[in-house]
Amino acid sequence: MQHVLVTGGAGFIGSNFVHHLIEHSDARVTVLDKMTYAASPEALEGLPSDRVELVVGDVADAAVVDPLVARLTGPEDAVVHFAAESHNDNSLRDPSPFIQTNIVGTFVLLEAVRAHDVRLHHVSTDEVYGDLELDDPGRFSESTPYQPSSPYSASKAGADHLVRAWARSFGVRATLSNCSNNYGPWQHIEKFIPRQITGVLTGGRPRLYGAGANVRDWIHTADHSSAVWAILQRGTPGATYLIGADGERSNLEVVRLILELLGRDPDDFDHVADRPGHDLRYAIDPTRLRTELGWTPAYTDFEAGLAATIEWYRGHQDWWGPHKEAVEAGYAARGQ
Ligand code: NAD
Ligand code: DAU
Repeated sequence: MQHVLVTGGAGFIGSNFVHHLIEHSDARVTVLDKMTYAASPEALEGLPSDRVELVVGDVADAAVVDPLVARLTGPEDAVVHFAAESHNDNSLRDPSPFIQTNIVGTFVLLEAVRAHDVRLHHVSTDEVYGDLELDDPGRFSESTPYQPSSPYSASKAGADHLVRAWARSFGVRATLSNCSNNYGPWQHIEKFIPRQITGVLTGGRPRLYGAGANVRDWIHTADHSSAVWAILQRGTPGATYLIGADGERSNLEVVRLILELLGRDPDDFDHVADRPGHDLRYAIDPTRLRTELGWTPAYTDFEAGLAATIEWYRGHQDWWGPHKEAVEAGYAARGQ
């Protein structure tokens, strides 16, 4: 039976991927997660205990990582590396955990997969490419030069460079993917879409950074999971795949849609202090993934996906409610 080690498997996307593996394969899964503020053990509840094991530990700790990787002895066994500090705004306040987890953690993992000759899939972000102008007809592709803007995206870019170097110099069997902005269940309420949904659900007004013209390329997290699984099964070692679902929307459009879907006036929001160095636009060209691996997204209607996500947050206030005040206090301290 295939055995997959999923780092960061208690986070937003990692936990979705664990569910995807359980539903679409017969793989056994070990989750390695430090259980930071961003982890949601609730997202792993109900999974079969004979197939899923949770190990609480730090991906930057070789004493934890090496023995776990050593257990992956089958020809199809693999590591899928989601573990990261993931929020840009936090990286502007304190970059240090981003360097430690995202760069040092990836280095430690690379040394373990090198020592035990284990396949690795490294999960990265489109933010490593910097940003595009609003009127640029182009999109990011696998050959776009790296130009990260924030401590978060620079740390992810550093990790990507390490993975490529270990593949080329040491023959590590690695694939990489760079995905656009995810939305869906279990996303931490510090992030844009859940922050605004839960804000409106608790009687507040959405908070738009600056003018709100910034564009993100939204993809449902279930489509990110299916893409990573396709790469793990059929990807070419050493290759990079961009993951996106043609979901470009300005932040202003998204806020207005959330308000409308929740029955509020679409102009009922506040402009707040902009993010320093705020990337203008991200856009993914997923041609390689679609043509070479035959992947297609299931969530092609953003409005329907957003409406379902709103309903999910409405039904899970017991999960996010206890954290809402503290998250908002952090934003308020920064004028956001
Ligand atoms: P998240 O913040 O929701 O989850 C990250 C998980 O990693 C958490 O469970 C956390 O406890 C764990 N973690 C953090 N530091 C760790 C450490 N040192 N050791 C072990 N575990 C640790 O993040 P997410 O949004 O699910 O993102 C997952 C991955 O996908 C990240 O690598 C991120 O860069 C990438 N990504 C995210 C998006 C997005 O839109 N959220 C888009 C593209 C790529
Ligand atoms: O593109 C992929 C990246 O997407 C991932 O690598 C990151 O892990 C993930 O967090 C996300 O980064 P962003 O910075 O794009 O996402 P965030 O949810 O923080 O913000 C989305 C947009 O919304 C961005 O332009 C900033 C804006 N924003 C954000 C918040 C929290 C607001 O206007 N108001 C807000 O309250």
